Amino acid sequence: MGESSGAGPAGTGTAGGDGRTGAATGTMTRRALLVGVGAAGGAGAMFAAMGALGLAPDAQDRAFAPPQGSDFSLQGRGAAKIVVLGAGVAGLTCAYELGKAGYDCTVLEASDRVGGRSLTLRGGDRLAELGGQTQTAGFGEGTYFNAGPGRIAPWMLTMDYCRELGVPLEVFVNNNASAYIYTRGMTAPVRARTARADMYGYVAELLAKAADAGALDRRLTGEDRERLLEFLRRFGDIGQDLAYRGSDRRGFTTYPGSAEGVPLAGPSSLAEVLSAGTGRAITMDFGVEQAMPMFQPVGGMDAIVTALARAVGEDRIVTGAPVTRITNLPDGVEVTHPGGVVRADYCVAALPPHLLARLPHNLGTEVTAALRTPVPVAAGKIGLEYGRRWWETEDRIYGGITETDLDITHIWYPSHGYHTRSGLIVGYYNTGAEAEVYGALPHRDRLRRALTQGKKIHGEKYRAELRSSVSVAWHRRPYVEGGWVRWPSHDGGFALLRRPAGRVYFAGDWLTRLVAWQAGAMESAREAVTAIHRRALAEPPT
Ligand code: ALA
Repeated sequence: MGESSGAGPAGTGTAGGDGRTGAATGTMTRRALLVGVGAAGGAGAMFAAMGALGLAPDAQDRAFAPPQGSDFSLQGRGAAKIVVLGAGVAGLTCAYELGKAGYDCTVLEASDRVGGRSLTLRGGDRLAELGGQTQTAGFGEGTYFNAGPGRIAPWMLTMDYCRELGVPLEVFVNNNASAYIYTRGMTAPVRARTARADMYGYVAELLAKAADAGALDRRLTGEDRERLLEFLRRFGDIGQDLAYRGSDRRGFTTYPGSAEGVPLAGPSSLAEVLSAGTGRAITMDFGVEQAMPMFQPVGGMDAIVTALARAVGEDRIVTGAPVTRITNLPDGVEVTHPGGVVRADYCVAALPPHLLARLPHNLGTEVTAALRTPVPVAAGKIGLEYGRRWWETEDRIYGGITETDLDITHIWYPSHGYHTRSGLIVGYYNTGAEAEVYGALPHRDRLRRALTQGKKIHGEKYRAELRSSVSVAWHRRPYVEGGWVRWPSHDGGFALLRRPAGRVYFAGDWLTRLVAWQAGAMESAREAVTAIHRRALAEPPT
């Protein structure tokens, strides 16, 4: 390792004072000093002062200070040269942020396009997979398929980059009460609102009756019990007698209008509701990553990587340049690709770890072992284009997701282009074993299987009206070979790779707690940039 632990990527340091726990006056003085140093000398001077004060970056200090050109000019030196491996979200974000300070960046990308897993397919695009299968998207004008990332949570860094880069956003409907839930325990799909109403209703009834009968008296005071019952009546729409008998929340066969609505018949019995197994389907948006509102770039997810690449400068990005060797040198890094050798002061390796592990390098056996630790996870999607938006006109589904326990797992409806002539739905988005099964098939068989499954929910039109389709198996994509990775444990290798190996820094969603999100790649990129910049300013000018 060419760097002391105190100078590791931001957010990883634990040594030194915290700045929050010191005596109030001491903390204020140190902070005031740092603000002054930062204003006068830029981020580099501030980092140096922080080190001198024993202030390791912590969660509170994680606010990112992008490198600035003035950080170098104030020291009377030029910016360093960086070679970035991989033009995915992490690599592009690194080059973008370093470029702001005038770093001389070269991005080497193995494939013929930028973006990595941020892939939006349009008519005419070709999609190759390992094993020889190549598809060409036959989509009509205006149709696109986000084959990789498809949604952004508002708290994620991705939103900030969209704002900064001027990428327009629109709402991605991640939860739609009108979408369906279909499990193998059901004879027919039900609307999500119906499944939720029944499950919440029965759960409320059971809990309310248990509380009312005194079964929870060891946990509840009399007042608590009344408050709980008051909540449960609302939560489950249960009666004064605490029984769930169904409610308007389940939906209607004829919705109210000039006349009263005709509610759906039901509900099913508690046993039937439980045996339908709707648990995952009705809770999938409960976590912070999936909760509404969510967002998507207008016109396709690749708007983000396109904007990043433009800001980096297309002339700095070399496509069709798969790296064949990484060599750490005492005073630099050498990266070999079929078109030549790139020599730089530092390298950011922003490739998937399992691919890095296979590359010849001199980073050491510990690094290789760490790179081999995360396990690639298979993931697949199919885009189905229809010439008629029957899901809107017939099913009244405007965006959102039908959840199933079939091997297709989800069906996504488009959150844009409502009421236009055509549209594209995602006919499966599966991971793990199910993605392996689909991925092993040629496209026509993936399609056949997906249509057979989707027909159970939407009927014959699902097959009959299909216009065109494309499927992706991320674990079979050249230079990617996985949807994302899973760390069996965060011990050891994870921390090791969050530090540089000599002059090689690593970046990617796989080095964060936000695996499989573009925001993870961006967070990681910022950490690598911060660490490189700090070190570049501390090294003697060459
Ligand atoms: N980020 C991935 C998704 O949205 C996991 O499904």
